[in-house]
Amino acid sequence: MLRLIDLQKSYRLGQTSIAILHQINLSIESNEFIALMGPSGSGKSTLLNILGILDDYDQGEYWLDGTLMKSLTETRAAQYRNRFIGFVFQSFNLLSHLTALENVALPLRYLGQSLHERTNCSKSLLTQMGLEGRFHHLPTELSGGQRQRVAIARALATRPRLILADEPTGNLDSSASREILDVFSTLHRDGATIVLVTHDEEVARRTQRTVRIRDGRVV
Ligand SMILES: Nc1ncnc2c1ncn2[C@@H]1O[C@H](COP(=O)(O)OP(=O)(O)O)[C@@H](O)[C@H]1O
Ligand SMILES: [Mg+2]
Repeated sequence: MLRLIDLQKSYRLGQTSIAILHQINLSIESNEFIALMGPSGSGKSTLLNILGILDDYDQGEYWLDGTLMKSLTETRAAQYRNRFIGFVFQSFNLLSHLTALENVALPLRYLGQSLHERTNCSKSLLTQMGLEGRFHHLPTELSGGQRQRVAIARALATRPRLILADEPTGNLDSSASREILDVFSTLHRDGATIVLVTHDEEVARRTQRTVRIRDGRVV
């Protein structure tokens, strides 16, 4: 599904540029479930953002589904994100003034779906996440685990083939974490390709393969 070849990423700080990712080589097959682990500051989020086409890279190649992801126009990048990728963040990133249903429906607006289609699809996803009684709740009226399930429903709304999750259980207690991991396991069983950043060896054990990164290198 995707392949990184000698990928490098630096950030500019004033006149100097600091290399964050060095010579990353990584292939991910369709329907793999991968844990990405490494110390804080090792480059996990940077790598995930590049995979999600939220950020660009300097050198090397990133191939996604046979297409080189380099210097895409913002429109093309947005098309790929919409078509392929669902993103789940540690801090949920829900819009606080929108209900659960409205948060999930939002990405579907950009696909040009009617209000009726968006509402039906969002209700079905929230129900799948065990949130059938919570359609009209605001994020502040939900527990952490429930908020993350709304965020996952939103990530799934566009039917992405690749799900990228940056420490999705990082802000959750252990029982909510287990719920979220059960959701990811089900999605994987149903055919999704998943890359999940985690600090937790127990979380990593529930995936098929662990990729370890240290100082910006895959080790
Ligand atoms: N926008 C940025 N500008 C400069 N340095 C950054 C930026 N984002 C991240 N970094 C640096 O890149 C390194 C890797 O960060 P990050 O990918 O967030 O690591 P991780 O997710 O593994 O904790 C860190 O040293 C961080 O300070
Ligand atoms: Mg990070």
